[in-house]
Amino acid sequence: MNVGGSGFAKARTRCVRTHVAHAMTAQHYLVHVRSELAGRGIGRTLIEQARTETFARRRWLFVSADAGNRTALAFYRKLGFRRVGRLPDLVREGQIEILLRQGR
Ligand SMILES: CC(C)(COP(=O)(O)OP(=O)(O)OC[C@H]1O[C@@H](n2cnc3c(N)ncnc32)[C@H](O)[C@@H]1OP(=O)(O)O)[C@@H](O)C(=O)NCCC(=O)NCCS
Repeated sequence: MNVGGSGFAKARTRCVRTHVAHAMTAQHYLVHVRSELAGRGIGRTLIEQARTETFARRRWLFVSADAGNRTALAFYRKLGFRRVGRLPDLVREGQIEILLRQGR
């Protein structure tokens, strides 16, 4: 996902996971805003782009974050996602991933 051209490409790396639900397949975005760029609306813009792409074809946009990642969970709640489940060992053995979703 690219936002605002190459200048913002550096905002992406990994950690905040965004899943675009399909019937048989899933598209998986990895989103991470560099700490020096946090709080400027970049994360919101990335999620809005994922919403646009997803809701053109699908009913739900799913995201997940590690249960200990309070920043990511607060960010997703602020953007209107609601918790729908917990997924032990999804990303790392012994850790719990929190699944959230938002409908169009
Ligand atoms: C979570 C993350 C994607 C947010 O991106 P961002 O560009 O800083 O967020 P935005 O500036 O777009 O903020 C969008 C909204 O979320 C809210 N928000 C962001 N971080 C928040 C936090 N920690 N707690 C509460 N609300 C938060 C903002 O207040 C904003 O709402 P507002 O517009 O009503 O003020 C970014 O901070 C990030 O990538 N963090 C690192 C990821 C991480 O935690 N990695 C750990 C290793 S897995």
